[in-house]
Amino acid sequence: MATLAELQRHAIPGMAQILPGRGNLPMVQVRTPAATGVVYLDGGHVAAWKPAGFEDVLWLSEKSHWETGKPIRGGVPICFPWFGPRQNAPAHGIARLQVWDLESIRQEAAGVTVCLRLQDDDTSRSFWPHPFLLRHRITFGTQLTMALELTNTGTAPLAAEEALHTYFSVGDIRQVRILGLAGVAYVDKTDDFREKRQEGDITITAETDRVYLNTVSAVTVEDPAQHRRIVISKENSRDTVVWNPWIAKAKAMPDFGDDEWPGMHCVETCNVGAHLVTLAQGQTHVMTARLAVAKL
Ligand code: BG6
Repeated sequence: MATLAELQRHAIPGMAQILPGRGNLPMVQVRTPAATGVVYLDGGHVAAWKPAGFEDVLWLSEKSHWETGKPIRGGVPICFPWFGPRQNAPAHGIARLQVWDLESIRQEAAGVTVCLRLQDDDTSRSFWPHPFLLRHRITFGTQLTMALELTNTGTAPLAAEEALHTYFSVGDIRQVRILGLAGVAYVDKTDDFREKRQEGDITITAETDRVYLNTVSAVTVEDPAQHRRIVISKENSRDTVVWNPWIAKAKAMPDFGDDEWPGMHCVETCNVGAHLVTLAQGQTHVMTARLAVAKL
């Protein structure tokens, strides 16, 4: 693993710095007139994005671990190469537990783009035997763009689930409306994985854990308590997960404050279940999520 001093060669003076973050974990901090942002090398994890004129868009738990090998609670964990629990293996895969390499930081028209990479190693192969290369390109600007690029570097076909498990900060989840998924079929993980159909817009009134299937259009999180709306658009993602743990599940999670559930909500850009990504030798797939904020 590169030291902080070695990572400094990627810095852009006055714009992007490599610093010790929470728990002393290395992070890239971006500061431009358009936006500020933070991404940790641990997990390739975007932990903050604040476009000018708005409060922080992403939510982080006060109770999060800040320790290599433990997932960060909040921001944008990357789930790969599986989504959800797995016997004798970490939930949501290994990518969020590993330390990614910093490949480059570039100033571009849309903002500052940080590119991180993760390859298979002994740890990943002990859980999942496939050679792979993941690149995560994050552009911090007036919009936040996250592009997760997966390449099959092995000779056998590769099949993997993936998610940009985005936690949004909301004023009060009980007032939030989620638009863009009316009429869409979903799997209800809180009701024995029954398949249902969304009637109208989504409001959250209990524990909610749903995989919306074949989702293409943008999803909007309307947050009247913070007077803003967040629009999530995406490419090459066939599913959208909508998750809020509500009261009991929040209490059961050690890295989640008992009273934090009203202030967060997850809308996750993903390819999961039957929609996992299948790649032949040498093939590449890029899943992109783009976040934009506007005043309500
Ligand atoms: C969501 C899943 O994406 O992540 C939920 O749909 C899960 O079932 C949640 O509880 C949080 O997972 P974890 O492993 O970060 O606690």
